[in-house]
Amino acid sequence: MTAKGILNLDISRGKIDRNVYGHFSEHLGRCIYEGFWVGEDSAIPNVNGIRSDVVEALKRIRIPVLRWPGGCFADEYHWKDGIGLPEKRKRMINTHWGGVVENNHFGTHEFMELCRQLGCEPYINGNVGSGTVQEMAEWVEYLTFEGVSPMAELRAANGREEPWKVKYFGVGNENWGCGGNMRPEYYADLYRRYQTYVRNYGGNRIERIACGANSDDYRWTEVLMREAGRYMDALTLHYYTLPRDSWQDKGDATGFDEAEWFSTLQKSLRMEELISRHSTIMDQYDPEARVALIVDEWGTWYNVEPGSNPGFLYQQNTIRDALVASLTFHIFHEHNRRVRMANIAQTVNVLQAVVLTEGEKVVLTPTYHVFDLYKVHQDAERLDLRLDSGSYRFGEEEIPAVSGTATRDKDGHVHLSLCHVDPHASAETRLTLRGLQGDGSWSGLVLAGDSIDAHNTFEQPERLRPEAFEDFREEGEELIVTLPPMSIVTLKRSAP
Ligand code: AHR
Repeated sequence: MTAKGILNLDISRGKIDRNVYGHFSEHLGRCIYEGFWVGEDSAIPNVNGIRSDVVEALKRIRIPVLRWPGGCFADEYHWKDGIGLPEKRKRMINTHWGGVVENNHFGTHEFMELCRQLGCEPYINGNVGSGTVQEMAEWVEYLTFEGVSPMAELRAANGREEPWKVKYFGVGNENWGCGGNMRPEYYADLYRRYQTYVRNYGGNRIERIACGANSDDYRWTEVLMREAGRYMDALTLHYYTLPRDSWQDKGDATGFDEAEWFSTLQKSLRMEELISRHSTIMDQYDPEARVALIVDEWGTWYNVEPGSNPGFLYQQNTIRDALVASLTFHIFHEHNRRVRMANIAQTVNVLQAVVLTEGEKVVLTPTYHVFDLYKVHQDAERLDLRLDSGSYRFGEEEIPAVSGTATRDKDGHVHLSLCHVDPHASAETRLTLRGLQGDGSWSGLVLAGDSIDAHNTFEQPERLRPEAFEDFREEGEELIVTLPPMSIVTLKRSAP
């Protein structure tokens, strides 16, 4: 199979916001507790209760932004339960996720400390479904107000004199579902009311994020933009990739056949249609794209691992997930004008996680390695890439075999990422390089699978990891890359 294309190095398509490489962490399963938070007395090395191995891993991929505390958990979360002396904090049932005890040991101060250690922006999701306007207003005051006020004094009494900076604040989550089963008309009015009291104190400037649609609910976007568009900085979208058309039996994370390999990759490509159609509606009300579209939950969702708590959403992660991530990033890049943040669900131990933990052990998943390979695209300028991608056929259906994206970073280096989804054969990709200036040399890294469910385990944590890649050559104006089956390649052309 041969793919062909043109890379126009002299045509810029705008900046890729680093926040499309963002993450999502919820009080769900072992994401917060065990995944991030082990407590100061743990034998697992930690700083202020937060495990150091996970922080180091996430810093390596330059995590730009982290969303918390949910998800469905957000619309049942009352933030005052999570402040003050840990031993005095309320113990309660996490009704959404597994019915386990939530001891509230990880709350606002701990989350802000986590973001400090990660060097990332906090994105806090407030409670509309079961919370009051006053509660939301007070949370913002507690976080960001400097001066004399009840919440600033409460914060100081809890050991934090200085306010924090909070740039992103979500007004509810999935309010069409677990966040209150609302109609868009009702939520639009509630959004207008709640966001009024999400105030900018001192120098802090908050981007107010409205709850957006569930996958193809275009009416939700239409109503929200029409009734409340002028009161928001961003509107969200949630879309999950399931191998099958059933939430009862979604398909397994490992041990699947080629039909499910194909259907998963095919369904992940639906992100293109969803973003295009939601953006078209947003364009009618906001042609300048002032309001961002934030895909603040995306990723694969499979049956849980056998023997694990069904409410914990713990799943393995294979080269298939790495390809889903790669294809999804290419789509986000294409829509960089409107899509200015995305948050994979979820960072640790839940759904399409980048890190898995078991006691003191940590495994970096194939999806982690895509974030690592692609971090070069954060805040870079997208270059015009036209690809005639060839086809990968299964039965009567086909999807593009090769997909790609290219950027130029602030130092002038060009980065080209390509992925190839056919599990059987290599693909030769011939790219004509237009507008190339000066001398420069290419170097590459590849992440490839040797079976369709190749994955890392606690026993074999480095079965899949990026390796040096040399299967490319320049011939005149052409760059010829031979992509192995089921692989992701990133090439760098160093600036002269
Ligand atoms: O990520 C798991 C759940 O999926 C989130 O809590 C919810 O927002 C979505 O339905």
